[in-house]
Amino acid sequence: MAKIIDGKAIAQTIRNEIADEVRSLSDSYNKVPGLAVVIVGTRKDSQSYVRMKRKACAEVGIRSFDVDLPEDISENELIDQVHKLNADLDVHGILVQLPLPKHINEEKVLSEISIDKDVDGFHPLNIGKLAMKGREPLFLPCTPKGCLELLSRSGISVKGKRAVVVGRSNIVGLPVALLLLKADATVTIVHSHTQDSESIIREADIVIAAAGQAMMIKGDWIKPGAAVIDVGTNSVDDPSKKVGYRLVGDVDFQEASKVAGWLTPVPGGVGPMTVAMLLKNTLDAAKRKIPQ
Ligand code: GUN
Repeated sequence: MAKIIDGKAIAQTIRNEIADEVRSLSDSYNKVPGLAVVIVGTRKDSQSYVRMKRKACAEVGIRSFDVDLPEDISENELIDQVHKLNADLDVHGILVQLPLPKHINEEKVLSEISIDKDVDGFHPLNIGKLAMKGREPLFLPCTPKGCLELLSRSGISVKGKRAVVVGRSNIVGLPVALLLLKADATVTIVHSHTQDSESIIREADIVIAAAGQAMMIKGDWIKPGAAVIDVGTNSVDDPSKKVGYRLVGDVDFQEASKVAGWLTPVPGGVGPMTVAMLLKNTLDAAKRKIPQ
């Protein structure tokens, strides 16, 4: 049976470490890390993620700046807001919750975030540095960084291992593949156009599932003993639940738990780590502003 990686517990440990550091930063330098969380529109999933991020800030002593903007805001007005936050010395990190409404060019907005406040790690310069050998980005994207932290805190080494990433999104699949490559894994990305993904996944020592397809990866797709990190958060109808649905990952948990060596649950695996890494990036951003 697979060891279940308790992301919630690991994230809590990290949050306690961050809270201690925030306290000493405030005691020694009178500096309180600040994170601006910008949301455009009223998407239910985005609102719930943003609520979680703001609450997590409060719990570790990070000041959160709430910027709630209407769905019909223009691209220029949104960029003006980003510029204001860039100029605000109390704001060390800026997060613009994605996706943005269709009339707004996401790339353009993300490029306007000051690179030293880009705690999501989505600025093209940060992603570019992540892709290049010998260059270090200022920030790593939170979910990919959380996946690698789960592996290292579970004692799973990456160097020389065969890693397969399922999905190639800008937010998870692509950056997690680049991060695994930086950590010396041999990396393959499979996606919706890959022929016979199943047999490629079966060769992996490490599987990162980020396809957004409920329970797509079956037990017999997994190499016995592999480490499986499930980034998927899919809601499926479940009349037995009061809310009428439940969350499942991209991996068939019941089947995979009989084959894998390690497995993350959904919920309670990668999700809490994303938030913990955002707090860590914000703390790091604030620490860089301490005069040397
Ligand atoms: N939407 C889904 N995941 C993320 C994330 O990590 N950051 C932001 N800004 N938006 C998201």
